Amino acid sequence: VSALNLPSSHLYEKLAGEVAGQIQSGVFRPGDRLPSVRHISRQKQLSISTVLQAYQTLEDRGVIEARPQSGYYVRYQRQASAALSEPRASTRGLKPEAVNLGDLTRRVLDDASQPGLVQFGAALPAAELLPGVRLNNLLARQARSGRVLPHQMGTAQGCPELRIQAARRAFLAGASLDPDGLIVTNGCTEALHLALRAVCSPGDLVAIESPTYFGILQVLESLGLHALEIPCHPRQGMRLDILQSCLERFTVRAVVAVTNFSNPLGCCMPDEHKHQMVEMLSRLQIPLIEDDIYGELAFGERRPLVARSFDLNGNVILCCSFSKSLALGFRVGWMDAGRWTEEVKRLKIATSLFSPLLPQLALAEFLETGGYDHALRRMRRTYAMRTAQMGASVLRHFPAGTRVSSPDGGFVIWVQLPEEVDSLDLYKEGLSSGITLAPGYLFAPGARYRHYIRLNAAIMSIETEWAVQRLGMLAGKLMSRQENR
Ligand SMILES: Cc1ncc(COP(=O)(O)O)c(C=O)c1O
Repeated sequence: VSALNLPSSHLYEKLAGEVAGQIQSGVFRPGDRLPSVRHISRQKQLSISTVLQAYQTLEDRGVIEARPQSGYYVRYQRQASAALSEPRASTRGLKPEAVNLGDLTRRVLDDASQPGLVQFGAALPAAELLPGVRLNNLLARQARSGRVLPHQMGTAQGCPELRIQAARRAFLAGASLDPDGLIVTNGCTEALHLALRAVCSPGDLVAIESPTYFGILQVLESLGLHALEIPCHPRQGMRLDILQSCLERFTVRAVVAVTNFSNPLGCCMPDEHKHQMVEMLSRLQIPLIEDDIYGELAFGERRPLVARSFDLNGNVILCCSFSKSLALGFRVGWMDAGRWTEEVKRLKIATSLFSPLLPQLALAEFLETGGYDHALRRMRRTYAMRTAQMGASVLRHFPAGTRVSSPDGGFVIWVQLPEEVDSLDLYKEGLSSGITLAPGYLFAPGARYRHYIRLNAAIMSIETEWAVQRLGMLAGKLMSRQENR
């Protein structure tokens, strides 16, 4: 039947069904732009209004979205079944604890630099999505220009050009920052270090997310600070009700939170929760140290706000970095230390004087001349797909009872194994098969997550499916070994 002979209500329904089918079969993926209304109208000999109606129908159903002056795009969707298999949050045994990760972190990071291993261990971004060659060329160009020479001294705050670019990025996350107040650091790690040193003294108690990124635990450990775990909701991040009751019971000196796409859960604190948290902590005069390293890697349409955007009195210290989205090896991060800015500048000088200048200039030029947003769009789309694929693959190959996070951004997944499987045993078995992973012991001060693992989904290759299958088989073996004891 020629499309032209059908009544127009059928025509647009038919077209909507066709487009939905193409999305379902992966021809158009989340974030992809659909063919323009005009293009489809010409190609299928349908009126503009029929095509528009088809697109609007899909928009009403939440399958696609219109972007002003740009067209229609496939929406990122959380799978309806995802919530059923998410790891559960634990709320038991919350008490202050000293941190002692031993040398496990170093071992996991050492594995990450070994060639030939399947890299599920460290949270490394996918090289093919980063503008590595361009950045190297810019670095070389800056070096050739002679603008900065090896003997030259930099300032503790870092290059003004980069600070302006950082402030522009922060503006897109809702925060109006003064570039003169920003401090360039050696990655987010140094920013977190400086922030905690500025607001705490050895022996103090710091509230952290549970599970949390092991680098935060390492900083606590190195500064002699104690940790108080606040459980995270698998999609909304730190539980504010529990935080509030803990703040009433314990003397907490600071709160550290990865508000947007936490590591390892990949969850994003809703903006209204950020607002509430900022108000609660400001009232109690407890500083919030916000780590926003994954904020730009949102799978959804909107880049979430930073908690710093709700801060009225400099009580939030914002720590960021380009490690995940541009150049891990450049070691360039930055921070806005709010009312601790002068103290942090002093600490920066005492710690490392200033950060290397050439990488800062190369990054500033890259950010100024464009291409970053384009690269980000590709990363966001690809990581949405890869985390979903890896999650599905884990559920296919791991023993029954395994649960997997469904991140909204970033590129890691968090896997809850059956109780019988110890993540350290699986780490060792995986390594002897050439596969690395991050055992759950790294993500809390105690052994709360002994049967969890974190997998990096960013780096995909032809080996990925095999490696997940192999890990699943090893987990199954460990499980039956335990059951037969
Ligand atoms: C949440 C979080 N913060 C900070 C870092 C470290 O950042 P950088 O490499 O910029 O020091 C990481 C790295 O994995 C991370 O996941």
